[in-house]
Amino acid sequence: MSTPPSKPALRSRAWFDNPDNPDMTALYLERYLNFGLSQQELQSGKPIIGIAQTGSDLSPCNRHHLELAKRVRDGIREAGGIPIEFPVHPIQETGKRPTASLDRNLAYLSLVEVLYGYPLDGVVLTIGCDKTTPACLMAAATVNIPAIALSVGPMLNGWFRGERTGSGTIVWKAREMMAAGEIDYEGFVKLVASSAPSTGYCNTMGTATTMNSLAEALGMQLPGSAAIPAPHRDRQEMAYRTGLRIVDMVHEDLKPTDVMTRAAFLNAIRVNSAIGGSTNAPIHLNGIARHLGVELSIDDWQTHGETVPLLVNLQPAGEYLGEDFFRAGGVPAVVRQLMSAGLIEEDALTVNGRSLGENCRDATIEDERVIRPFDRPLLANAGFRVLRGNLFDSAIMKLSVVSDEFRQRYLSNPDDPMAFEGRAVVFDGPEDYHARIDDPALAIDETSILFMRGAGPIGYPGAAEVVNMRAPDYLLKRGVTSLPCIGDGRQSGTSGSPSILNASPEAAAGGGLALLKTGDRVRIDLNACSADILISDSELAERRKALEAAGGYAYPAHQTPWQEIQRGLVAQLDAGMVLEPAVNYQRLAQG
Ligand code: FES
Ligand code: MG
Repeated sequence: MSTPPSKPALRSRAWFDNPDNPDMTALYLERYLNFGLSQQELQSGKPIIGIAQTGSDLSPCNRHHLELAKRVRDGIREAGGIPIEFPVHPIQETGKRPTASLDRNLAYLSLVEVLYGYPLDGVVLTIGCDKTTPACLMAAATVNIPAIALSVGPMLNGWFRGERTGSGTIVWKAREMMAAGEIDYEGFVKLVASSAPSTGYCNTMGTATTMNSLAEALGMQLPGSAAIPAPHRDRQEMAYRTGLRIVDMVHEDLKPTDVMTRAAFLNAIRVNSAIGGSTNAPIHLNGIARHLGVELSIDDWQTHGETVPLLVNLQPAGEYLGEDFFRAGGVPAVVRQLMSAGLIEEDALTVNGRSLGENCRDATIEDERVIRPFDRPLLANAGFRVLRGNLFDSAIMKLSVVSDEFRQRYLSNPDDPMAFEGRAVVFDGPEDYHARIDDPALAIDETSILFMRGAGPIGYPGAAEVVNMRAPDYLLKRGVTSLPCIGDGRQSGTSGSPSILNASPEAAAGGGLALLKTGDRVRIDLNACSADILISDSELAERRKALEAAGGYAYPAHQTPWQEIQRGLVAQLDAGMVLEPAVNYQRLAQG
């Protein structure tokens, strides 16, 4: 007769119920008793479940988690666990200077310490605003205790005069309206604020919707969780069910390494193309994978994602917003469509103990205006192409957003339809760009290629979202609206500008961009996936020697201790922008 597998010993017992160390046990106990937990509870053998709280007054996008946590606690109690809620370092995408992405690794680092150093058997990760999702998943990956993510959900749709207004994207339109005298400043603020009518993360397909959707595609949230709008009652129920489920996950010893496998990442890459996800996704997913020890490279994004079609019609690329995505079926409906084309690794395990294929098999599209069936996509080939050359070892481009105007102007040579050459105009950081873009002395014309350097993880600590640059006013007046942009920084959400982003290594790390000069000829070949300065190798070597003699590419001084610490340890964008030494620490809870 076989014996049933025994439950794994709870790690919290080393604190609260350790016969080998009665003195410390008493000390641990008395301090958790002092707010009302009883000795009986703490020594009952019930799992202690952390609720990693990312909401606060400083993090309005995630603030609703303060409410949702009450229902998470109900669920944990109901299932026989003991909830302990604690704060995560706040990350507010639009409020944190100089950039919220500076703080992703800081929140990661502190959450690792909490999950490892306190008596927690499992954790509920409260995700939402852009960087909160990768920070939490990266920490859960490193410590590897049972973990489940709960999205805060998107805001309700914004509306103004009968039209949807999307968070982030409306600002550009509102500025034009103010410039044209259609609205005054008060009207401008009102219009912008209309896009954010409730609690929740941004209702457009920016980095927040992208990362919450991918957390579900990775299997780290209960099915259907990502898209439920924050104020909906279903969101409260999802919080309760998430609390129930994490307790079982502890008993089953279902850990992040069981869920976030290479198969799960390939699913997330394909879902990212189908939803029209952010160019920030490769940075974050590659970062999570590195903390798990899962093989994932920047090339996987082209190999597995580039030819996947765009199915989701959300602003800024499309028409609709978060509420519409939810009503149309959310992530399960998208996954189901990809399954029909054989593009999902259906056996990938998810936090509910079932596979992604099982979870999504019966998902239907409820509104084909918002989610298209696989055979009638909005666009073909919605993923990223990876370029390389003497300018950088890798950079990504979203070919699907390249405008017709751009194609006609740059990609119309019948002998060489996917390649173009131009004169480089180089800016050192966003301030330099803003100061000089309209300066006639730069002689920017329709054959110019704009470069932004000094905007990577070291140069602009955390990497700035500044690579999408507008053409100078005098060209805009002639109808030239988009010039190719290349840089070692990031780009916000999705954009129509033909940008080559996330160039690695960045100028500040000695990448080829540091050797470029305004006036150089540059050749981009989208078929050959190459991007090169057209100078000889010996000239390139001369320039490198000169750069090194000058002490390398100069970037602004550190403003805070963390900027200095991170600059000394951070990986490049293609390698996830992680803290390199942290990658050596994996599966901490397994000893
Ligand atoms: Fe927080 Fe968009 S700024 S989700
Ligand atoms: Mg952003």
